[in-house]
Amino acid sequence: MTVDATLVAPPAGGTLRIGPHTVTPPVVLAPMAGITNAPFRTLCREFSGGKGLFVSEMITTRALVERNEKTMQLIHFDPTETPRSIQLYGVDPATVGRAVRMIVDEDLADHIDLNFGCPVPKVTRKGGGSALPFKRNLLRAILREAVGNSGDLPVTIKMRKGIDDDHLTYLDAGRIAVEEGVTAVALHGRTAAQHYGGTADWDAIARLKEHVPEIPVLGNGDIWCAEDAIRMMRATGCDGVVVGRGCLGRPWLFGDLVAAFEDGGRPPATPDFGRVAVVMRRHAELLGLWLGDESRGVIDFRKHVPWYTKGFSVGSELRRALATASSLAELDDLLGKLDQDQPWPAHADGPRGRTAPGKRVVLPDGWLNDPYEVAALGEEAEGDSSGG
Ligand SMILES: Cc1cc2nc3c(=O)[nH]c(=O)nc-3n(C[C@H](O)[C@H](O)[C@H](O)COP(=O)(O)O)c2cc1C
Repeated sequence: MTVDATLVAPPAGGTLRIGPHTVTPPVVLAPMAGITNAPFRTLCREFSGGKGLFVSEMITTRALVERNEKTMQLIHFDPTETPRSIQLYGVDPATVGRAVRMIVDEDLADHIDLNFGCPVPKVTRKGGGSALPFKRNLLRAILREAVGNSGDLPVTIKMRKGIDDDHLTYLDAGRIAVEEGVTAVALHGRTAAQHYGGTADWDAIARLKEHVPEIPVLGNGDIWCAEDAIRMMRATGCDGVVVGRGCLGRPWLFGDLVAAFEDGGRPPATPDFGRVAVVMRRHAELLGLWLGDESRGVIDFRKHVPWYTKGFSVGSELRRALATASSLAELDDLLGKLDQDQPWPAHADGPRGRTAPGKRVVLPDGWLNDPYEVAALGEEAEGDSSGG
């Protein structure tokens, strides 16, 4: 496959500033709960040559301030990782402030992103996640506490367009972010009602860019290949791109992205199965080292198997066996049984990961009556770990 060089020529700009951090090319790994832990970020950084910004999976602020054991492991960064980028999720301004203060005082990260995009009913039912920005004053209070406690660390936010097409919040949220001293905003071009269905609305990213020219705007949604990233930058005027599902089982996408911005014209990576198997093995091994237990690493790796093997001829029996492997030796044995020379399946380049359309957004009673009500949310609005 050849790539149209005019399409992948780097767009104007190409440097993203997040406070003191310069991100070149302006490519960001989207925070993904259960996925973008230190091992996965390491893999992506290896393919990108260390270029780009790689955000941690979401950390809930209450668990952080309570020093929950699992949470303390999740905030682990590889010593070579810089800047260390952490995503927080919280619904209580004071707790968010304490979590940010803890990160600053204990030097736990170099950049803090706040998540306002989670669409899962368990969270929106309590007014959290992507329901929260509807309450403008609560959003403002959280941002004020976060920025006020962040010292020299830049604070960014990531959000969706709103609750549904009749209750869009992103323009107001962008303005509030600027007023409260947020460094950059990222927009996933879907509403909560859409979940992951349909296509991301890149026009909304362009509108946000026009609305908040004071700070960088990052575009997110449906970047499946490097060309998509360049197209998004061109179409929206955004300052950088945030890439999520496209790199599931394809961490080498970050190599493609860097090449597209820097060199233009390089064909995308199309590894044969043998090369994919090497990456799979390394991913599982890194997870084991991170978790301090080989078996736990291989078990955690199971969820990645369908993404890595998408489109390859694996067969149902081996697929089942890979989904129950619990040691590296077993994984090696199973991967070795597959035809290593299978070429990259062309149809594996499209959408992957969550694609389910949404249902009605579940909200607290009367939530939509007054956007300026001074709302306070209970702990349950924070009690989810599935992300965005
Ligand atoms: C498995 C999974 C977990 C996610 N977890 C988070 C999260 O913790 N925080 C967040 O802001 N977004 C989260 N998201 C949303 C992504 O960051 C991103 O906004 C979304 O997938 C759209 O981008 P994409 O089309 O490039 O995938 C998650 C998405 C997926 C698929």
